[in-house]
Amino acid sequence: MAVCAVSLTRGAYDLSHVDVTKIPAAAKIKVDFAKDIYPIFKEKCFSCHGPEKQKGSYRIDTKDGAFKAGDNGFNIIPNHSERAPIILMLAGQIDEMLMPPPKADPLTTEEIGLVRAWVDQGAVWPDGPIQEYIKKIDFVRDVQPVLQKACFECHGAEKQAGGFRLDQKAAALKGGQTYGAVIKPGDVAKSSFLLIVAGKDEDIAQPEKHLLPGKQVELLRRWIEQGAEWP
Ligand code: HEC
Ligand code: HEC
Repeated sequence: MAVCAVSLTRGAYDLSHVDVTKIPAAAKIKVDFAKDIYPIFKEKCFSCHGPEKQKGSYRIDTKDGAFKAGDNGFNIIPNHSERAPIILMLAGQIDEMLMPPPKADPLTTEEIGLVRAWVDQGAVWPDGPIQEYIKKIDFVRDVQPVLQKACFECHGAEKQAGGFRLDQKAAALKGGQTYGAVIKPGDVAKSSFLLIVAGKDEDIAQPEKHLLPGKQVELLRRWIEQGAEWP
C-alpha cells in the first residue's frame, strides 16, 4: 500500500538549500495590491500564467488561481515570504524554478521587494475585479526625453522638416504643413502621430527615422490618452 500512499501525497519543493539572505529585502512601504503588485504580475507573469496559458497548471490573473495549491503545495504563504515558494522562485532559490524563466523578462530587485512585502503584509488580494491602476505619464520625465532623442534633430529649434516642430507645445499641437494636427489630446484614434511612430503610416518620409520601439509607442499612446499634458 506504500505506493498508493506516495501517489496520494502531494510533493513539496525542496527548501533545504534556500538562503534567505539572498532574497531581496521586502520593500518598506505599505503595499497596495492593485497599484503595486497586480501590474507586475500582469507585465511579467500573465503571458505564461494568465487567461491563455497556464504553465505548470498555475494562473496568477485571478485570486482563486493564485492561491490554489499546485502539485507542490501552496505557492503563496501569507506572512511568510521566507518560505513562500512564489518568493523563493522569484529570487532563484528553488532549483530549476527561477520565475520568470531565464529567457523571459526578469523582475527587478525592487519588484521582488514589493512582492515580498505584499506576502509579508498578508498577501491581501481584494475580492472582485481589480481596479486597474493607470500609471500617470509625466511629460517632462517620460515623454520629452523620447522626443528629444528621436525627433528634435529634424523637428526642433534648428530644423523643422515639413514645418513641424516638436520642442514647443503650441507648435507641436498645431502640427506640420501636410499632416496638420497629429496629436489630439485624449483622442488616441484620431492622433495620427501614433501611426507615424508605430510605422503604420505609409506616406511618411524616411519611415525608419520615424519608427520608435514598441514600449515608447505605448508610452506615447498612454500620454495622449491621458490628455497629452504638456506643462
Ligand atoms: C515564459 C513563461 C513563464 C513566465 C513569464 C513565468 N512563468 Fe512561472 N512557470 C512557467 C513554467 C514553464 C512553469 C512550470 C515549471 C515546472 O513545473 O517545472 C512555471 C511554474 C510556476 C509556479 C509553480 C506552479 C505550481 O504550483 O506548480 C509558480 C508559482 C510560478 N511559475 C510563478 C510565476 C510568477 C509569479 C511569474 C511572474 C513573476 C512567472 N511564474 C512567470 C513559466 C513561466
Ligand atoms: C532625420 C530626420 C527626421 C527625424 C529624426 C524625424 N523626422 Fe519627422 N519628418 C522628416 C521629414 C523629412 C518629413 C517630411 C517633410 C516634408 O514632407 O517635407 C517629416 C515629417 C513629419 C511629420 C509630418 C509633418 C507634416 O508635414 O505635417 C510628422 C508628424 C513627423 N515628421 C513626426 C516626427 C516624429 C514624432 C519624430 C520622432 C519620433 C520624427 N518625425 C523624426 C524627418 C525626420
